[in-house]
Amino acid sequence: MKILVTGGAGFIGSHVVQALLNRGDEVVVVDNINDYYDVQLKKDRLKMILQEVTFYELDIADLEGMRKVFFDNKIDQVCHLAAQAGVRYSLENPFAYEKANNVGTLNILELMKEFGVKDLVYASSSSVYGGNKKTPFSVEDNVDRPVSLYAATKKYNELIAHVYHHLYGLNCLGLRFFTVYGPLGRPDMALFKFTKAILEDKPIDVYNFGNMKRDFTFITDIVDGVVRSLDRVSEVKYSVLNLGNSNTVQLNRFIEIIEKELGKKAERNLMPLQPGDVPETFADIEKTKEVLSWEPKVGIEEGIKKFIDWYKGYYSKNYYG
Ligand SMILES: NC(=O)c1ccc[n+]([C@@H]2O[C@H](COP(=O)([O-])OP(=O)(O)OC[C@H]3O[C@@H](n4cnc5c(N)ncnc54)[C@H](O)[C@@H]3O)[C@@H](O)[C@H]2O)c1
Repeated sequence: MKILVTGGAGFIGSHVVQALLNRGDEVVVVDNINDYYDVQLKKDRLKMILQEVTFYELDIADLEGMRKVFFDNKIDQVCHLAAQAGVRYSLENPFAYEKANNVGTLNILELMKEFGVKDLVYASSSSVYGGNKKTPFSVEDNVDRPVSLYAATKKYNELIAHVYHHLYGLNCLGLRFFTVYGPLGRPDMALFKFTKAILEDKPIDVYNFGNMKRDFTFITDIVDGVVRSLDRVSEVKYSVLNLGNSNTVQLNRFIEIIEKELGKKAERNLMPLQPGDVPETFADIEKTKEVLSWEPKVGIEEGIKKFIDWYKGYYSKNYYG
């Protein structure tokens, strides 16, 4: 299989590419290596896969550039993970989301239609559930009330994927990821920020006064779900599935596990819920189990330990010698 992975220098993308290479797939990567967060981390992820992939440093919103990628490579499947991620940043820079997530995803669908590429697996997000009160969140629940622009772009991606499935017979499987964490993780996310601040004796911002709840999902479980989706998308034809650990953890508890693992107490700066954020996420994964025969395997203690081991190793040269 020759698989195009967009966002392949990203956190989830780089792990997915590694897994595909390990089992012998050919991989084409598109990533614009933007500076939303530390570019060096993206370059380091890329270094691990660069020798084995065809890499294009390119914006998915560039239709002509993307057309060349499809023209130059006989692509069998697309795994579309590139996006402007982050809920809070979408209040600061809405147009980055419009460009990467809306225009970028439309380009991918149009080019798949044009080049006769049938299978698409793409990243959606638990944020589409907005402030829904009923938990766990089921893919049958109403998701018409997003509370951030990021969430709205992810919902838009699901809607246009359905249109291309309906009109042009594309097989589209959307995956609503729930707070993904693990080695090589994103510097803008809580686990990374808390670990860094605690090690540097700086205070951490604890939103919703520590009462936030998140369904933290370890990266290897996400990769397993993405790879199974690629294998099954042509039979499934169209679906949207939750990929979450289905075990929601309160923020205070999450911080306690980090403290225990680091052997250090955090200085907590208690703050209210931030605009655009949701108080709780919790995945109902019954349909995912049925469609993908998938089940999450890594619990929060084990996952945090693996992240911290990676973090200390990766940054020891620079900070903690
Ligand atoms: N990490 C999570 O908890 C989480 C949760 C829900 C959904 N998601 C979604 O999963 C996907 C991967 O997320 P991630 O955590 O790996 O984020 P990431 O930011 O680490 O990865 C995204 C990659 O896409 C690239 N990119 C962004 N805009 C681009 C553009 N216009 N053209 C080309 N490349 C571009 C970035 O440079 C980055 O390397 C995203 O679609 C994200 O919205 C992630």
